[in-house]
This record gives sequence, C-alpha cells and structure tokens, in this order.
Amino acid sequence: MVKIAILGSGKGSNCRAILQAVREGRLAATPVAVISDVKNAPILEIAREFGVPHTCLSPGDFRTRLDPGAEAELVRILREANTEFVVLAGFMRILKKAILNAFPRRIINIHPSLLPKFPGLRAWEQALAAREKITGVTVHYVDELIDHGDIIAQREVPVLETDTPDSLHKRIQQAEHALYPEALRQVFAQYASAA
Ligand code: GAR
Repeated sequence: MVKIAILGSGKGSNCRAILQAVREGRLAATPVAVISDVKNAPILEIAREFGVPHTCLSPGDFRTRLDPGAEAELVRILREANTEFVVLAGFMRILKKAILNAFPRRIINIHPSLLPKFPGLRAWEQALAAREKITGVTVHYVDELIDHGDIIAQREVPVLETDTPDSLHKRIQQAEHALYPEALRQVFAQYASAA
C-alpha cells in the first residue's frame, strides 16, 4: 500500500475526505503522517480523530515558505515515516528545491480553480471577480511555481448568478472532496503497477 503524508494549514476538509476514502476502502493508501505548519490547525484534530500520526512543524521566519531549516526538518520527518507520496491539502506555503528534489513527481496539490486560471489565494473570489460562468478544481503535480505543474485531473463547477464567495467556495469544496480521492486513486494505481 502506498504510504502518504498529508500537509495542510487549515480546516482540513480535503484531508478528511482522503482519510474517509481510505477508511471506506475507496483509496488504497496508508496515511503515515499529517503535518501542519499552523499550531492547533483543525487538520491536526482530524488526524487525531482518524488515528493518524500528526505533528506541527515550526515554519521559521518567512511568511510564504518554510525557512531552509524547517524544510530540511520536514524532509526528515517525511523520510522517517517512509513517505512515498506527499499530498498537499490546503498547505499554504511554497515548497522549495529541498523537498521537491526529495520527492520528484511525488508531491500532489489540489487548487480551487481550473488551472492555469486563478493561481494563488482565494481562487473562487478571483473567478467571481472575472465573471466566469464556469470555474472548478484542479489536482496537479507540484513544481517550483505557485499552483503550477502537470495536471492530473480537473472538474468543472458552475458559477451561478446568485453566488456569493461563500456559496461558490462551498460548491467548489464539494467537488474537491469527490475529485481528490479519485485522482489519488488513479495516481497510486499507476505507481503500483510501475513498481
Ligand atoms: C482547498 O480549497 C484547497 O483547494 C485550497 O485550500 C483549501 C483548503 O481547504 N488550496 C489552495 O488554494 C492552494 N493554492 P481544506 O483545509 O478544507 O482542505
């Protein structure tokens, strides 16, 4: 079974969807760690609920990335847990070479837009501001750019005339919770058959 570590900074609803899919046998994977850069983030509580080892990583002095010492510590923790895939679920820091090189093509992210449209923060608000009629969700491999890398799967989400940022975000998150476990299932099946 593929060993996965889930990284997140916030409420962890995608983490929950993944752990639930594992529990229900819809995703063949062993979650070995949940790691957050935010103390007391709800995602850590979800890990506890599912009995997955979890830890808070002190990110260092930068706001948008880990400092080099923290990134080295993250790689150490991931290796110690024998992680094969790193799954980002709302991890709000840019990953740099140390971790990208340690897990080549084995770091996956989900983003709440149809990339390459609307990378960055609060993508659903960007879609509303641009008066899009359709937005969506993207699962992709992570490279050194923000919300960028080879696309694994996408799902469209309609934008309604009546949408507020909250109502659109909610619909997008429902799509995320369905798409992420399914996209991971496909990636891990390919990985297992190539091994
Ligand atoms: C998700 O909507 C995810 O797509 C987004 O953060 C949210 C985390 O929610 N990620 C990004 O915007 C990455 N640029 P969650 O903590 O409930 O899973």
